[in-house]
Amino acid sequence: MIDATRPVAMFDSGVGGLTVLHECLVALPQEDYVYLGDTAMFPYGSREPAALRERIAAITEALLQRGVKLVVIACNTATAIGQDVVREVAAEHGVEVVPVVEPQAEIAAAITENGRVGVLATTNTVESGAYRRALERQGRALDVIEVAAPKLAPFIQEGSLFDEQTMEMARSYCAPLREERIDTLILGCTHYPLVAPMLQRILGRNVRLVSGGHAVAAAVQRTLKRDGLAREGDEEGDYEFFCTGPVDAFREVATRFLQMPLGEVRQVEFSVPA
Ligand code: DGL
Repeated sequence: MIDATRPVAMFDSGVGGLTVLHECLVALPQEDYVYLGDTAMFPYGSREPAALRERIAAITEALLQRGVKLVVIACNTATAIGQDVVREVAAEHGVEVVPVVEPQAEIAAAITENGRVGVLATTNTVESGAYRRALERQGRALDVIEVAAPKLAPFIQEGSLFDEQTMEMARSYCAPLREERIDTLILGCTHYPLVAPMLQRILGRNVRLVSGGHAVAAAVQRTLKRDGLAREGDEEGDYEFFCTGPVDAFREVATRFLQMPLGEVRQVEFSVPA
């Protein structure tokens, strides 16, 4: 029997999902959270999709074994490539899943004025067509311009400095978006909100950036409430962090981005490679 005192689980290939966790901590501070960064297999964006699906299934099962009440896929690539397997595994435990992608498509379709929407995402996410399909479902004729940015998430994950080379990389990813005169850009990878100021500067003030975290936190809130699983009270919840790669590297970057101490970070291993 699932009850409200259980934690909410979320996972990503690395620290990108922390942008989703942050929004959940703002909206639902009383909940407990379990966060898993699959840093040993980072980046998901350029891994073979079939292997990635198996890996994602194994991670979901491990999170469910911890007795969580909800699984949040805090990774666009995992959502695009394996949302269905996460749902299948979670359904066996009677647990709901909240993915990214769709909530952003809804917002982008609602706010674009010229109907020209850009999507910046990993190669796997772009190739999956997940955003294109999600935007088509919004019932509005839109021009969708997708750009794969294979080097951007690794740059963020490594906690690298912003040098001239980084700017050059970001400018080259943004060039087709500028040429196509988009007025709305979906940040189609949970890592990207961490470099939103840089992207906004390159694209200019007329382009609105759409991140997923806020909408996902709202979906988490709705789902927990609907299922009678929301935790009551004013007390701040607890959080637990796991990663599959070196703990120190994860802790350093994650602490900087989340701007709070993580407590103990534990390393976990999965026998299923990606
Ligand atoms: N945060 C993942 C995503 O949303 C990341 C990047 C990757 O692992 O390639 O797509």
